[in-house]
Amino acid sequence: MGDNQNEIGGIWMNNQEIVAQAVFEVVKENLTLPEVERLLEKPKSVDHGDVAFPAFALAKVFRKAPQQIAAELAEKINPDAFEKIEVVGPYLNFFMKKEVISSMVLKQIAKEASQFGNSNIGNEGNVTIDMSSPNIAKPISMGHLRSTVIGNSISLILSKIGYQPIKINHLGDWGTQFGKLIVAYKKWGSEEKVKAEPINELLRLYVEFHEKAEEEPELNDEARAWFKKLEEDDEEALELWKWFRSESLKEFNKIYSMLEVEFDSYNGEAFYNDKMDEVVTMLEEKHLLQTSEGAEIVNLDKYDLNPALIKKSDGATLYITRDLSAALFRKREYNFVKSLYVVGNEQSGHFKQLKAVLKEMDFDWSDEMVHVPFGLITKDGKKLSTRKGKIVLLEEVLNEAKDLAFKQIEEKNPDLPNKEEVAHQVGVGAVIFHDLKNDRLNNFDFNLEEVVRFEGETGPYVQYTHARAMSILEKAAFTVDPEAVYALNDADSWEIIKLLQSYPEIVMQAADQYEPSVIAKHSIRVAQAFNKYYAHTKVLVDDEEKDARLALVHAVTVILKEDLRLLGVHAPNKM
Ligand code: ARG
Repeated sequence: MGDNQNEIGGIWMNNQEIVAQAVFEVVKENLTLPEVERLLEKPKSVDHGDVAFPAFALAKVFRKAPQQIAAELAEKINPDAFEKIEVVGPYLNFFMKKEVISSMVLKQIAKEASQFGNSNIGNEGNVTIDMSSPNIAKPISMGHLRSTVIGNSISLILSKIGYQPIKINHLGDWGTQFGKLIVAYKKWGSEEKVKAEPINELLRLYVEFHEKAEEEPELNDEARAWFKKLEEDDEEALELWKWFRSESLKEFNKIYSMLEVEFDSYNGEAFYNDKMDEVVTMLEEKHLLQTSEGAEIVNLDKYDLNPALIKKSDGATLYITRDLSAALFRKREYNFVKSLYVVGNEQSGHFKQLKAVLKEMDFDWSDEMVHVPFGLITKDGKKLSTRKGKIVLLEEVLNEAKDLAFKQIEEKNPDLPNKEEVAHQVGVGAVIFHDLKNDRLNNFDFNLEEVVRFEGETGPYVQYTHARAMSILEKAAFTVDPEAVYALNDADSWEIIKLLQSYPEIVMQAADQYEPSVIAKHSIRVAQAFNKYYAHTKVLVDDEEKDARLALVHAVTVILKEDLRLLGVHAPNKM
C-alpha cells in the first residue's frame, strides 16, 4: 500500500504491522522485521487482544524462561499504539488503542475513498477470463448466469489490485446441433417466429427435431449432411448459421445489459474453425497423437486422466480441440499472466485434460491456466434442467426480481422519485448478490422471494444499510475531513473499525482465491455491525465525538458501496 500517510510512523499499517514494528524495535539484535511478522498470531478470542507474540521463539537466544522474556519485552515496548500489553504465560497479548486505530482507519478512508484497498500487485498484467459462454440457439442457463456474474466480479476485483482483465465470451456457436437446427427450421420453422422470439423458437425447433428423430432416424442423416455443408462453407447453411447466431446474441445481450456486464471478445468456438489445423499439426510434430479406433487421441495416462479426443474418426474436431486452439490464440494475442476459465464444476475433467495436453506440448504457460469452477443452482434441492423445454428463463427471473423489489419500495418509500431505476438496481442486484454470497463451489437453492428480501443476508439488506447510512450523512450535512482526528473507543464502533481496517486484506484474499463470496460476506458483516452500532448509538447527538461518529458512518458508506461495486451491484443513495 506504499506511500499512504497516517499518524503512526507516517505510513498506513494494519495491526499486525504495527505490533511487528513495536516488537522489532526491541528485538532488533536478534530478529528481522519479517521474522517478527511471521511469528505473530491472531488470538482466537478478542479477550486475548488483537495480536499476540509468542515469546518462546526467543527462548534459545536469551536463554531465559519464555515467561520472563515476555515480561521483560512488555516493559520495553513503546506503548503508544496500545491500550495494554498483557503477559499471559509465554505470550504477549497486544490490545490496540481504539482511538489511535480508529482515527488512522477513518482518515485513510476519508483520503482514499473508494480507492482504499487498491494496489498495484498485478502490475498491469493481462488476465483472460473465459466467462458466460452460453450456447447459441439455447437459453442462457442458470449455470451461465453464475459464470457471468462470478467472472464479472473476479474481473472487478482483479482490476482493483492492478491486473488488466480481459473478459472473453467463448460462445458455443459451433457443433452438430446446427445441422439439426437447419433441418428443423427448413421443415417446420418460419422466419417471423424466429424473429419474434429467437431463443424460444429455436429451442422449440431443436426439441421438435429430437422428438421426430425418434420415429424417423433418417432425420439424423439429414442433419449430419447439413452440418457437413456448414463445415464446407455452403452458402445457405452459413447464412442460416449466421442468422441463428445473431438472433441468439440479441437475446443474450438483453440479459447482459440488465446485468451490466460487457465483454472484450465474443470469439466463440466457431472462431477457431480455421485455427485448429495448426494445433493438430503441432501435436503430430511432437508425436503426441495416437490413432485409436480411427480417432486421434492424446494419451494422458501419466496424469491419471482419460485420453483427450482430438479428432473423431470422420475427421471432425471436438470441444477440446477448439479449446487448445483458443488457449494458444489467447497466449499470443494477450500474453496473459493468468488465464481463467469460469466454468461449472462438471467440466473439471475437461480442463484438467486441456492443461495436461498443453503441458505435454511443453507450453509452460499452461501452469497459469486456472479452472475456476462453481456449483449448481438447484430448485428445492434438485438440479434445474434445460432439457425438454423445462427451463428457467433468466430474463423472466430478472424481471420478476425487479417487480418484487418494486413492490417493497412502494411499501417502504412510496415517494422515492426514481423508483423504476432503483427497483432495477435492487432486483437485479439481489439476484447477483445471492449468487455471489456463497462459496462458489457450493450448490445453492434459488427461491426468488428469499433472494429479494430486505432482511437477512441479502443484497437488498446491504443496499438498504448503505442508503440508511447515506441519509444520516445527508441529515447531518457532513463532509469528511482527511486532516481531522476521528478518535472512537466504544466496543460497537470498534467492531466496524476492524472490518474496515481489514479491507485491503479482504480484497487480496478474494483475488487470491478467485472468490467473490469473500467480498459479499465482508459486506454483510459490515452491514450487520453498522446496524448494531446504529441501534445502540445516538450518532447525531451534539458532543465532541459527533464528527468521529459521522466519519465512521461515512467510511461505512464508502466500503459498502465499494464491496457492492466489486460484486457488480449498484448502491443507490436512497431506496
Ligand atoms: N459453452 C460451454 C457450455 O455451455 C461452456 C464453454 C466454457 N469455456 C470454454 N473455453 N470451454 O457448457
